[in-house]
Amino acid sequence: MLVNWYEKRKRDLPWRKTRDPYAIWVSEVMLQQTQVKTVLGYYERWMQRFPSVKALAAAEDADVLHAWQGLGYYSRARRLLAGARAVAERHGGKLPRDVEALLALPGIGPYSAGAIASIAFGLPEPIVDGNVVRVLCRIFALTGDPAKAPLKQRLWQLARELVPADQPSEFNQSLMELGATICAPTSPRCPECPVAKQCGALAQGLERELPQLAKRKAPTEVRTAAAYVRRGDRVLLQQLPADAPRWAGLWVLPFSELSAKETPALGAARALSEMGLKASAGATLRDARHTITRFRITLNVVECALAPRARGGTFFAKSEVASLALPSIHSKLIAALW
Ligand code: ADE
Repeated sequence: MLVNWYEKRKRDLPWRKTRDPYAIWVSEVMLQQTQVKTVLGYYERWMQRFPSVKALAAAEDADVLHAWQGLGYYSRARRLLAGARAVAERHGGKLPRDVEALLALPGIGPYSAGAIASIAFGLPEPIVDGNVVRVLCRIFALTGDPAKAPLKQRLWQLARELVPADQPSEFNQSLMELGATICAPTSPRCPECPVAKQCGALAQGLERELPQLAKRKAPTEVRTAAAYVRRGDRVLLQQLPADAPRWAGLWVLPFSELSAKETPALGAARALSEMGLKASAGATLRDARHTITRFRITLNVVECALAPRARGGTFFAKSEVASLALPSIHSKLIAALW
């Protein structure tokens, strides 16, 4: 029933035209936190730039981050790269057909392993993502918080019991597709649903109450200030260390998180002094806001001038910045100020 509906109504997406396990893996990692319409362009460009596990494994970290630029949640790119390198080393560049071997790879968790196994290899392995959680909680009228152990385990167990030996790829994708297109979070389109008759939540009028997701905590406000330092037609950038809590390995305008009463000018000067650069801070040039997971971040860009004999810091011309990986917010601000 569900699979018939899927075969008829599925969206025409590029990763549905391939059984290449690497391509499936790339698409599923991109789709984990990003909408389909954004992923489309990135996926095509990625597959041209890194067409195989071996190509990705051989790439420089910086090129991989650059290709991911704008997709956000860069740890996904790092995990994909770490996984590809392990597949190249341990499996000669071919993703293993076995779920245990997939799970033993860095960067591959139950979701990616289930997606690769079922979609690329046709194995009857379950996948549970946010869409599947919603669909299963509604069809089976399951109460409780699906992020917490009892229900979370039950959902994986249920998905495992449901996935058929025949057409596991289509079955898993039909659950996800139903969640993405019909069984929407706040206004499910039940009259169009192929399994409305079997839906426990709908029968009980609970289709908008389930799943019982815990309320998200209000985001934490974070104030940051960045230093904008020009030298001729070049701008000063800093590469964040590999263990930075956000944006590890990316290039940014030097910035710091402001303490309670600290002004943006002081914070920007501090960001520079932490790099060993003595500077004076001037006016705020731009304000920006962005949200990353649980943080609502304000960023003040402050014009700064290095002390006359200050040495050090890496300055880049506009054409060079284009080839570096920067968080979108920083690249937009730089483009606006150039
Ligand atoms: N969301 C993430 N992966 C998907 C897939 N393969 N089909 C439908 N929706 C998805």
